[in-house]
Amino acid sequence: MNHFLCVHDSSAEELGELLTLSAELKRRYKQGTLKRSLEGKVLAMIFEKASLRTRMSFQIAMFDLGGTGISLKPDDIGILGQREPIKDVARVIGRYVHGIMCRTFSHQTLKELAEHAGVPVINALSDWSHPCQAMADVLTIREHLGALAGKKIAFIGDGNNVARSLAFVTAKFDMTMAIASPAGYELDGETHRRVNRDRPCLSLHSDPVEAVTGADVVYTDTWVSMGQEEETRRRVADFAGFQVNADLLSHAPDAKIMHCLPAHRGHEITDDIAESANSVIFDQAENRLHFQRALLAKLLG
Ligand code: CP
Ligand code: NVA
Repeated sequence: MNHFLCVHDSSAEELGELLTLSAELKRRYKQGTLKRSLEGKVLAMIFEKASLRTRMSFQIAMFDLGGTGISLKPDDIGILGQREPIKDVARVIGRYVHGIMCRTFSHQTLKELAEHAGVPVINALSDWSHPCQAMADVLTIREHLGALAGKKIAFIGDGNNVARSLAFVTAKFDMTMAIASPAGYELDGETHRRVNRDRPCLSLHSDPVEAVTGADVVYTDTWVSMGQEEETRRRVADFAGFQVNADLLSHAPDAKIMHCLPAHRGHEITDDIAESANSVIFDQAENRLHFQRALLAKLLG
């Protein structure tokens, strides 16, 4: 594994090893026996969008392992590709640091960074995917529900970056996934075909009740992703009926509730469900740190 741009690029075995390492480093962290395996290593962290969890977890993971993270925003380095070509930014940063983590709009930006940087590049969210989130999510599911194989995730909402990465991990870990979206917001057909290539594990629905029936996990994400703020009014109207609330959960009363955060209570999820006993939302947020540590140890170590 040279880069981490999309779950789909890694084998099930590599991803399984990363999960095992995440659990191991989490245990050592809690015991205070973590080794400083990235002593002297530096990670450049480029953010074209806001972030709380991703920024903090990567920076703290580098610190815990003895390295350093440097956060770079458009105010510091300009918008990638505007002040100077992405390939030049990649080659310059690649000569200073041992790895690059980037949160950006276009997935193509990540591919270009990876092609030219000469050091590992990590996708910290693009419009296409959010692989670090999906891996922290399966770590969380495994902690709460045991073996992943056979577990069903119901995703209610936009067929977006988070849904896509979850669909890819579903296929890798022998799980199943049902996504319910309003018309016009379905997961793209190409991803659907790729995920189902070896095994029909992903189904797309227009009825949320159909999707959550039999689910072990009910997952949702914002109706309005970063960069789509101008569409807020239309999206809020279009997603009516796709809220994760008590009514919907009466069809999956034992399911764990997941959300990558930030959550918009009253839109995609109600406050009572986000705060309910079955909610594992903050375990997911914590596991971002534990997965990130394993990923950095593997790619930069
Ligand atoms: N879930 C997630 O990626 O959170 P941030 O946008 O705060 O990093
Ligand atoms: N789909 C959301 C995820 C935020 C972590 C977005 O792209 O804004």
